[in-house]
Amino acid sequence: MLKLDGVSKVYRVGAFGGRALTAVSGVGFEVGEGEVVSLIGESGSGKSTIGRMVLRLTQVSGGTITLDGRDISSIRDRKEYYRQVQGVFQDPFSCFNPIFRADRVFALIKEQYFPGVGAREWRGRVEDALESVRLDPGNVLGKYPHQLSGGQLQRMLIARAVLLDIRLLVADEIISMLDASTRIDVLNLLADLRARGLGILFVTHDLSLGNYVSDRTVVLRDGRIAEMGPTPLVFGDPRHPYTRSLLAAVPRLHTKWTDAPVDGTADGTAEERAEDLPCAYHEAAQGSRTRPGLAEVADGHFVACSGCAGAAPEEKKMKERA
Ligand SMILES: Nc1ncnc2c1ncn2[C@@H]1O[C@H](COP(=O)(O)OP(=O)(O)OP(=O)(O)O)[C@@H](O)[C@H]1O
Ligand SMILES: [Mg+2]
Repeated sequence: MLKLDGVSKVYRVGAFGGRALTAVSGVGFEVGEGEVVSLIGESGSGKSTIGRMVLRLTQVSGGTITLDGRDISSIRDRKEYYRQVQGVFQDPFSCFNPIFRADRVFALIKEQYFPGVGAREWRGRVEDALESVRLDPGNVLGKYPHQLSGGQLQRMLIARAVLLDIRLLVADEIISMLDASTRIDVLNLLADLRARGLGILFVTHDLSLGNYVSDRTVVLRDGRIAEMGPTPLVFGDPRHPYTRSLLAAVPRLHTKWTDAPVDGTADGTAEERAEDLPCAYHEAAQGSRTRPGLAEVADGHFVACSGCAGAAPEEKKMKERA
């Protein structure tokens, strides 16, 4: 369904846009129907930039993103695209205009996509969609955003996606601001939608969450893929030192931070930095025709050689010169 191929994003930053910042570089992966793919990486690794490119909120600088083989930038009719692909973001408040009632998001959809549907039928559809996200229509309809909780607003946005019957949802850190029980509700809801065939690009910096929800995992580092593959393989048999250090840095339940300070390593010994390690996968990665820079270490499990996954070659050179 969705396919990213060699996708890059360069932002112009600095005074007068005089400096180029490569936020994403040569990223390629797919999201199939009814599949949850999580995009994991530290803050600033380029996750949201990828989500925004998929949502056409920002243009790609290189490479292509296709939906069913069609370059999304060539789909002139944006409405047609957003009928199939929608996003839900971390901060639901920013998606609502505080001076309008929150259910205006549904009215706008009706205006744009379902002008022919009668008022009574539409009301029924909205109520069904709200119930499917476990919201009580009587409790949320007619309220202003400030009268609703973050979790309720987020579920209203998911209800909007349900109403549109989209095929792909970009969920960017959607549960970070929810409490534990609402989180489980939203996760179960995503599981239901997935069972109905929805593909989900699940952006998170929370590894345990990624492990919990996704079929496949893409680990990003500095805008490049360090490792990707079926979630049980990436989490159960991580190959890249970066993935290993991320996994080792997850605090464990029943352990106090004072007992075992988290230092990014599994056993407390200083782990070598990825770029200092010998390039175990370099040759295989260089020889890869389908996924340049990535070596396939098991079925569908790809790892970048430490050189490839680190800084882009030109940035590396700059660092070396410095
Ligand atoms: N509009 C923009 N203009 C310039 N630089 C940007 C812009 N948006 C993002 N960046 C830069 O691109 C890089 C990647 O940012 P991005 O928001 O994609 O990271 P992220 O992985 O989503 O991080 P986080 O986990 O903190 O949300 C960062 O260095 C960021 O400063
Ligand atoms: Mg982000």
